[in-house]
Amino acid sequence: MLARARAAGERVGFVPTMGALHEGHASLMRTARERVAGDGRSGPVVASVFVNPLQFGAGEDLDRYPRTLDADLELCAREGVDIVFAPSVEEVYPGWPEQREPQVTVEPGPLADVLEGRSRPGHFRGMLVVVAKLFGLVRPDLAVFGQKDYQQLVLVRQLVADLCLGVDVVGAATVREPDGLALSSRNRYLDADQRIEAVYLHRALREAQENARYGAAVALDAARAELRLGKGVDLDYLVVTTPELTELPADVPPGTEARILVAARLGTTRLIDNLPLTLGGPP
Ligand code: PAF
Repeated sequence: MLARARAAGERVGFVPTMGALHEGHASLMRTARERVAGDGRSGPVVASVFVNPLQFGAGEDLDRYPRTLDADLELCAREGVDIVFAPSVEEVYPGWPEQREPQVTVEPGPLADVLEGRSRPGHFRGMLVVVAKLFGLVRPDLAVFGQKDYQQLVLVRQLVADLCLGVDVVGAATVREPDGLALSSRNRYLDADQRIEAVYLHRALREAQENARYGAAVALDAARAELRLGKGVDLDYLVVTTPELTELPADVPPGTEARILVAARLGTTRLIDNLPLTLGGPP
């Protein structure tokens, strides 16, 4: 099907996932569908469902990560996905489990050691290895990633640029619950109290956005104050960076684009979120 589509000049869209699909993934699939369309034609959309062991560290939630393939297939069918690729671990990593990593691998560079990478050593290397493999298997023209995993999105863009993979990487807006909590497969781990408190992550980012016109320091203070209201929120990091996740210079001109990112634990569940900021500009 993909060969036929390529021969007909159609674009192939791709949504890589780890399953446990929710409305956030559905919106990635809709974005892929919109982006492959053109000249009155629509190219095929492929979704992968693969819980990649390489991107989970020791003591992380690989074993308890939700696996819901039947429901995932239903969601893909509802969204009109043309091909669902749900390989086994051995198909993706033929030497598994004796040889965990492929011999030729991806070195993600310094961006993988900060923020999420600091708390989750090896995570981004494992993620980039599987994304590179999936790109090789599916050979998409475009691939859609959620902005919720912002550092992942930036690193995938870097992978494609540095290794000249020729895939158009599309960052899709975060889908949220009505109270602002970013949709995540891990939200299902939250108990009722944690679910209520989880909303402070988004509220903190919104406070930062509203105060961004006064500069990064004020925006950060406003976000910190909001986070302190969530008594069960155990903050890992809250930072303002450039959109490329590099350090923001001390003095930036009004209108400078930036990103605020937060990670926190509620009980044993780690949540992340982020939003764009315009520093010194209109709120
Ligand atoms: O974002 C995810 O679900 C995963 O990190 C990805 C991109 C599918 C790679 O395993």
